Amino acid sequence: MESEGLSQSLVLRELKSRLSEDFTYSSGRIIGSMCTCPHPLARKLYTRFLDRNLGDSGLFPAIAKLEKEAINMLGALLSNQRASGHIVTGGTEANTLALWAAKKLSKKEKCEVIVPASAHYSFDKAADLLGLKAVRVGLNSGFQVDVEAVRKAVNSSTMAIVGIAGTTGLGVVDPILELSEIALEKGIFLHVDAAFGGFVLPFLRELGFNVPDFDFSLPGVCSITVDPHKMGLAPIPAGGILFRDEKLRKAVAWNVSYLCGGEIEQATFAGTRSGASVIAVWALLKHLGKEGYKRVVGHCMRLTWKLAEEIQMINGLSIVREPIMNIVGIKSEVFDIHRVAQELRARKWAVSLFPNHIRIVVMPHVKERHIEEFIEDLKDIIDKFGG
Ligand SMILES: Cc1ncc(COP(=O)(O)O)c(C=O)c1O
Repeated sequence: MESEGLSQSLVLRELKSRLSEDFTYSSGRIIGSMCTCPHPLARKLYTRFLDRNLGDSGLFPAIAKLEKEAINMLGALLSNQRASGHIVTGGTEANTLALWAAKKLSKKEKCEVIVPASAHYSFDKAADLLGLKAVRVGLNSGFQVDVEAVRKAVNSSTMAIVGIAGTTGLGVVDPILELSEIALEKGIFLHVDAAFGGFVLPFLRELGFNVPDFDFSLPGVCSITVDPHKMGLAPIPAGGILFRDEKLRKAVAWNVSYLCGGEIEQATFAGTRSGASVIAVWALLKHLGKEGYKRVVGHCMRLTWKLAEEIQMINGLSIVREPIMNIVGIKSEVFDIHRVAQELRARKWAVSLFPNHIRIVVMPHVKERHIEEFIEDLKDIIDKFGG
């Protein structure tokens, strides 16, 4: 640290130059991330209310009410107006809170959680932190969790099953209906990770697509992760954890008595936490409404289909499966997909690389011209590989 602080203009100048090496969403070159440019309204509100601390809800009761309303709106979207939960830092915190609640409610000595092989690594972190054994089960040919394998994996130590509505790698929806039946039959907690899909699937359904049941409409579903900072257009950090009812949420609630706001309750990992995130999420849900999010999802899906079609016309490349949501997996039987990814990165395309495919996520900041430029570069790379 400097002994005499630098002037603001010096600090700003240095930052401008230092940060110029980073990618920006607005450039359209980030096409492998699940985040996006926040909506302008959310950006404005977030910066205006930066000082609001929802860790001390007694000081900010109005924001605590907004949080409840935001959770109710998300709950209604996911077929349960009585859902109880919080706006948290992201999908990792939400998934971990769900497993923490499941563990506390199960009261088992040795605890296992059954997790699809396609699950996000946040479940491994959560299992490690909570002292759980994560039992990974395989997928069927459609990249969904194998329901029979889940059934076989259940034993007397199983305290939770995880299903995914929008897998990280391919946006696949697990057979949540069947998982719900197993969970009810065996008396096990079922958590659905809809961190990505929660802001896509309900709107795809409204747009007339056939979307399988994945939410609280299924009686076995105990909790759902749904992240506003992914397809919800909210600024980071904004994840969402929804429990089926208040009783489940209470499993991870703590009373704190010494804060300025008096005796209050905290049921998130973070103590001090962003009230601005909550305000931004509430405002976006109110402002965009179903029609607004339908337009966002419709835009992303149109570009996704265009991208998937174009990829299949490139010799030697194909898609891993028909896109279900705005995620496309690119694979090749001919070329080393890791080398293709390297070349794309050398041309400043921020794609993500999975063991056997490149993942493209067509987020709201991605425009038609970005898809066209990407396809041009991809064709050129394949040409140079001798395709
Ligand atoms: C399905 C799913 N769950 C959870 C997460 C973790 O979310 P976060 O990075 O906000 O913690 C991700 C992140 O991509 C995800 O795809």
